[in-house]
Amino acid sequence: MSSYVVTGASRGIGLEFVRQLSADSKNSVFALVRNKQGATKLHELARANVVVLEADVTNAKALQLAAAEVAKATNNKLDYLINNAGKTNHPGFTLDNFPSPEALEHDLLDNFRTNTIGVVHSTNAFLPLLKNGSAKKVVCLNSALADLDLTVQVEAIGAASYSISKAALTMVVAKYAAQYKSMGFTFLCISPGLVATDMLPAGPETEAEMKMLTAAVARYVPDFKGPISPEVSVKMQLEVIERWTVEQSGAFVSHAGDRQWI
Ligand SMILES: NC(=O)c1ccc[n+]([C@@H]2O[C@H](COP(=O)([O-])OP(=O)(O)OC[C@H]3O[C@@H](n4cnc5c(N)ncnc54)[C@H](OP(=O)(O)O)[C@@H]3O)[C@@H](O)[C@H]2O)c1
Repeated sequence: MSSYVVTGASRGIGLEFVRQLSADSKNSVFALVRNKQGATKLHELARANVVVLEADVTNAKALQLAAAEVAKATNNKLDYLINNAGKTNHPGFTLDNFPSPEALEHDLLDNFRTNTIGVVHSTNAFLPLLKNGSAKKVVCLNSALADLDLTVQVEAIGAASYSISKAALTMVVAKYAAQYKSMGFTFLCISPGLVATDMLPAGPETEAEMKMLTAAVARYVPDFKGPISPEVSVKMQLEVIERWTVEQSGAFVSHAGDRQWI
C-alpha cells in the first residue's frame, strides 16, 4: 500500500494518474485541484481511496493546508509526490516578436510562477511527510521542450516561456536531488510524451503555435503518428517511476525512461 499526492488532478494527465493509482484499493490517493466543485471528472471516479483537496500551486499557504489534511489522514506520511500541475498560455510568438516587452515579461513570469515556483512550493509543503514515507519519490512533469539539444536540433522556437520555465524545473529537481539523495530521496523529471490533452494547441486562436509545434515534431519524428493517450502515457510513466532508484536521482527522462521524447 502506498500514498500519493497528485497536483493538477482535475483533468488530463493528472486525472489519469489518479485513475490508475487508485485502481488499487490499497493505495491512498490525494488529488489536488484548483476548484474542488468543478472537478467533475474526479467526482465521477467515486473511489473511496481518493480524497480531493483544493490547492493552487502558486499559493504556498494553500499547499501547506493541503499537506496538513494529508498528514491527518496518513499519520504524517507520504510515499510519492507527483508534481503534475502545469500551464502554457499558447502564445503564437517567438521570444523576439511579442506585441510588447510587457506582454513578453508577463508570459515569462506567468509560466515561471506555475511551472517552476509552483513545484518548489508544492515540494516544500510535502517534504516533511515524504521524509516519513517509505518510497520518498518526487516526480515532476517536464517537457521535451526543456531539452536544450532538442530545441536547437529541431528548431523548436515556439512556447518559449513554457520551455524556459520547464528548463528551470530541471535545475529545481537537480538541487533537491543533490540535497536529499543521502536521505534516500529520488527526484525525477519526466516528460509524458506528446499527449492528447488540453495542453496541446487547438483551435484558430492557437494556429501560429500549432504551426511551430507541428514543424518541430515533423523534424524530430518524420513519421509521427499523432499524440498518445493519457492512459498510455501514465502507464509508461508509472513503470519508469517504479523502477527509478535513488542512485539515478536528479535525472530528466522521457515516458520511456530514456531521451527519446516522442
Ligand atoms: N500534454 C502534453 O503533451 C504534455 C507534454 C509535455 C509536458 N506536459 C506536462 O504534463 C503536465 C500535465 O499536463 P496536461 O497535458 O495534463 O495539461 P492539462 O490537460 O492542461 O492539465 C493541466 C492541469 O494542471 C492544472 N493547473 C494549471 N495551473 C495550476 C495551478 N496554478 N495550480 C494547480 N493546478 C494547476 C489544471 O487545473 P485546472 O483544471 O484548474 O485548470 C489541470 O488540472 C504539465 O506539467 C505539462 O506541462 C504535457
